[in-house]
Amino acid sequence: MTTTRSLREKAGSEPITMLTAYDAPTASVVEAAGVDAVLVGDSMGNAVLGYDSTLPVTLEEVESRTAAVARATDEALVVADMPFLSFGVDDADSVENAGRLLKEADADAVKLESGPHTVELTRRLSDLGIPVMAHLGLTPQHVNKLGYARQGTDRDAAERILELARDHEAAGAFSLVLEHVPSNLAAQVTDALDTPTIGIGAGPDVDGQVLVITDVLGLSDRSPPFSEQFGDVRGEMERAVSGFREAVEGGEFPAEEHGHVEGDVDDIY
Ligand code: KIV
Repeated sequence: MTTTRSLREKAGSEPITMLTAYDAPTASVVEAAGVDAVLVGDSMGNAVLGYDSTLPVTLEEVESRTAAVARATDEALVVADMPFLSFGVDDADSVENAGRLLKEADADAVKLESGPHTVELTRRLSDLGIPVMAHLGLTPQHVNKLGYARQGTDRDAAERILELARDHEAAGAFSLVLEHVPSNLAAQVTDALDTPTIGIGAGPDVDGQVLVITDVLGLSDRSPPFSEQFGDVRGEMERAVSGFREAVEGGEFPAEEHGHVEGDVDDIY
């Protein structure tokens, strides 16, 4: 069973794998494939809830999806993403919201899109026994300020990311996602930390990789440039759905084996 401790132990010897999942069947496929951690990301906003960004995603949505994922997994570490403004506004609310994701939804850890404002919160949650995965670089909850652009692309910005990574490690974060930052910056952050780094658009020199499941499956309308499609699930779904429609319209479905006849219910009308 993957724990925050075993994930840390794996770092440096073997690559860590993490994928998002937002429902039970997908989580069970991810776990059966031997992926170390399942992230119930607020990327669910764009990926499966039909929003234009992650900003509208609510704590209740993450909670309900996390509970479904947790019910379907025994081995993988389940990390629940804290949605926009569910943390960082009020300390007590932040702790209560993070606690709900562990107590009620059965997450093993939470992820926070991080910045200077999350260092003390990371310390507080970690002290309380709520493991925190930090997230630096591109943080999509800041889309209205930063867009979806690469981060850490000049010296000052890169130094800020390295400093924040160190601060979150010191505050107790058990791992750190680095999103859409230069590969050479991610490599240096990884060298500087004992805490495992998990990259997305951060090159190969990190301790692990994470991608959004709908991108990996080939189900997304649009995917970021750093993603890779490993399947054609949209094509397979289209074939299945068209097959159903054609079979119904052509009178081939349902066939005899899909129904049953009871003598007793003859002649009631
Ligand atoms: O919400 C999410 O899925 C994420 C990953 C892309 C790291 O934050």
